[in-house]
Amino acid sequence: MRQLHLPINDLTMSVMSDLAFQQCMAPDCGAAYGLDVVLYACRRCGALLDIRYDWSRCTVPKSLSFFESRWPTPGRSPEARADFSGVWRFRELLPFESIEKLVTIGEGRTLLQQADELAKKLGVKPGCLYLQYEGFNPSGSFKDNGMAAAFTMARRLGRSRIGCASTGNTSASMAMYARHTPSSNGHSMQAVVFVGGDKIAFGKLAQALDFGAKTIQIDGDFDQCMKLVQEAADRLGLYLMNSVNPFRIEGQKTIMYRVLEGLGWEVPDWVIVPGGNLGNTSAFGKAFIELRELGLLKRIPRMAVINAVGANTLYELHEREKIRFDNGRWDRTRVEAWYARMSAEGRRAKTVASAIEIGRPVNLPRALRSLEAMDGVVRQVSDEAILDGKALVGAYGYGCEPASGASIAGLRLLLEERAISPSDRVVCILTGHQLKDPDVTVNYHRGSRDGTGAGSYANPPVRCAADIEAIAKLLDT
Ligand code: F0G
Repeated sequence: MRQLHLPINDLTMSVMSDLAFQQCMAPDCGAAYGLDVVLYACRRCGALLDIRYDWSRCTVPKSLSFFESRWPTPGRSPEARADFSGVWRFRELLPFESIEKLVTIGEGRTLLQQADELAKKLGVKPGCLYLQYEGFNPSGSFKDNGMAAAFTMARRLGRSRIGCASTGNTSASMAMYARHTPSSNGHSMQAVVFVGGDKIAFGKLAQALDFGAKTIQIDGDFDQCMKLVQEAADRLGLYLMNSVNPFRIEGQKTIMYRVLEGLGWEVPDWVIVPGGNLGNTSAFGKAFIELRELGLLKRIPRMAVINAVGANTLYELHEREKIRFDNGRWDRTRVEAWYARMSAEGRRAKTVASAIEIGRPVNLPRALRSLEAMDGVVRQVSDEAILDGKALVGAYGYGCEPASGASIAGLRLLLEERAISPSDRVVCILTGHQLKDPDVTVNYHRGSRDGTGAGSYANPPVRCAADIEAIAKLLDT
């Protein structure tokens, strides 16, 4: 099983006095940096960074059940605020800042839902399907978990201008946290958002605008926005809040802690998650690798990452090209060649699930590491299957945005393939709220005016005269 253990070299020694530090994820580099050095990639080799801890000097509980004592207590003390947060309730597992300085607006108060009716519909045994609904976060998506951690760091660094590229949810979450986090000069932070021209769902754009983010609509897609914002970080001093920022990954680890908590600290057989920029994929793997290293878990669940057919980079690289993490020696040349072909053929990501319309996921190496550690698979599903998955989640009373429907579509596919059995315990991550992208939902149910083109599980509105007799007749039919 993959470990996060990396060689200790001269550079590492200089920061080892710190309890938490940043470290290059490439095992044969392993350069380390203090927490206060603003970096998104290793200066020496360009690889992504991990936040690492000297666990021997941290107070880590002996058992995960310790966290059960953390249900919120009333009051405004730092402890009460931290315990209210579904991120900071697990602070011993991401101990990079002291309790008084943690940023929270009550994120991560999400419950694992046992979905027996939906399970029945999908052919899964009762008690075996669970939905982790991250749409119940303050800004309506899982991003808030990561933002709580990244804003804690932004404040520590004294940054007053922060930025991200986004398909919508990152920008909504960042804009919201920016309003709640005073910078060192006492004013709230300036949030700068790069979104692709007309790609963003209105629910998300509405949030960024309402929260006062400087919203820059680029004539281009997410991949172009991502490239631009990375340049802007260097040139214009933006502190980058995308998931290349390793603190985002720390916050998002807690989604897995809550899943385990919801299962009474038992490990599920599978975790299924939609894959876009691959921040969640990266975070989930890191969470489990660390829990194993700490002796807090013996077994790690398997992971299935679900791409849309029109945005299937990870699927292509992992399943077709067989690119593997290979202890950090993943084949860059073949990955570069694959991207070069994508550009030469003019292929761009395209899917109805705009949140995951991403062709060049920045977290690819971290995601490969997670797939290796979690014995993971990657699948691609059609837009139609994504929308049907989303409709089923809605029909059974939860509701989610299109990208989250990919988890259910992926589960259906893996059941068909018999890779997942009906008695496996499966957790599907629902990443965003139902109301983020109502246009797609209404079109699915209504189709065109005459109801054609509606989805398989459509529940179209019915027209009726404003007359009680007509309504009575309609309800009887
Ligand atoms: N689901 C939703 C609702 C998302 O907003 C995203 C990503 C994903 C899944 C994919 O997650 O990047 O961790 O693989 N949205 C980003 C954004 C890219 O800008 O809001 P990932």
